[in-house]
Amino acid sequence: MREISRQRWLVENEGREHAVVRGFGGWFHFENMKHVQSAVRWGVRVLGLERLGRQNALDFELVEVEVEVDSLPSQFDGVRVGFMSDPHIDCIGGLADKVIEAVGKVECDYFVLGGDYSFGHGEDCDKAYEDMGRIAGLLAGRGRVFAVLGNHDRYRMGEVLDSCGVEVLINDNVKIERGGESIYIAGVDDCHYYGAQDFELAGEGIADGAFKVMVCHSPEMYRDAAMAGYGLFLCGHTHGGQVCLPGGAIVVRGASAPRHLLKGQWRHDGMAGYTSSGVGVSGIPVRFNSRGQIAVITLKSRG
Ligand SMILES: [Fe+2]
Repeated sequence: MREISRQRWLVENEGREHAVVRGFGGWFHFENMKHVQSAVRWGVRVLGLERLGRQNALDFELVEVEVEVDSLPSQFDGVRVGFMSDPHIDCIGGLADKVIEAVGKVECDYFVLGGDYSFGHGEDCDKAYEDMGRIAGLLAGRGRVFAVLGNHDRYRMGEVLDSCGVEVLINDNVKIERGGESIYIAGVDDCHYYGAQDFELAGEGIADGAFKVMVCHSPEMYRDAAMAGYGLFLCGHTHGGQVCLPGGAIVVRGASAPRHLLKGQWRHDGMAGYTSSGVGVSGIPVRFNSRGQIAVITLKSRG
């Protein structure tokens, strides 16, 4: 695992302004509107929906997804990748045990963790470290696991995952080989809050023309990844909207990205993408019309 970047260190330790509050746009960012969040929380309680919302938040599902990608080496056609993002594992009591039970059922070749492991935002959190240590240890005992950090994670969370055997990709990449062929999995540090992503460093040493996967906590870096030639982009952060209108229409986007990138499969300039609806919740510990998920993504060669 790489050492903490200067950018992340300054935000974590020196109080440098994080990306969410910077500039004029920060005034209108939902994450900065604590009074609006309080009003929604109060409204949910007054309407008697809090209990249902919390039940919904624990009711995540395992989903099977086939994603077609260009230029996939034949040895990787059919490879299964478990993908869990945004567990916010300490958000609701009992979630960690449910996640452990669920990931125990997942059959895959590799597992990817998409960031946002704790409920608190940038604070140290012993409960989340303990729970994620249990989950990471279980996963790493079964196969290779790759992880990136999200906007809720301190560098300490990366150290916890690393100590459990997870390959933490902080602006870094790894090569995976199967039957004489290889692909790369790269990951960037959080772009949404810390602004610590470094695509140049993340892609260092990747062979020209190789198939490469970018894991980035938020969909916001989709253009950079497509321009850098990544064939697949895995992300989360949006929670599929978390509190949606009936039918799943998203009310609060939570990420500066086009709507069609906020959940599920998408494509951009020849790059395939998948945005996980996440497992846990943030801000308000409820879900409505937006079910959490752990995905198993089967890679298929396009055409
Ligand atoms: Fe996030």
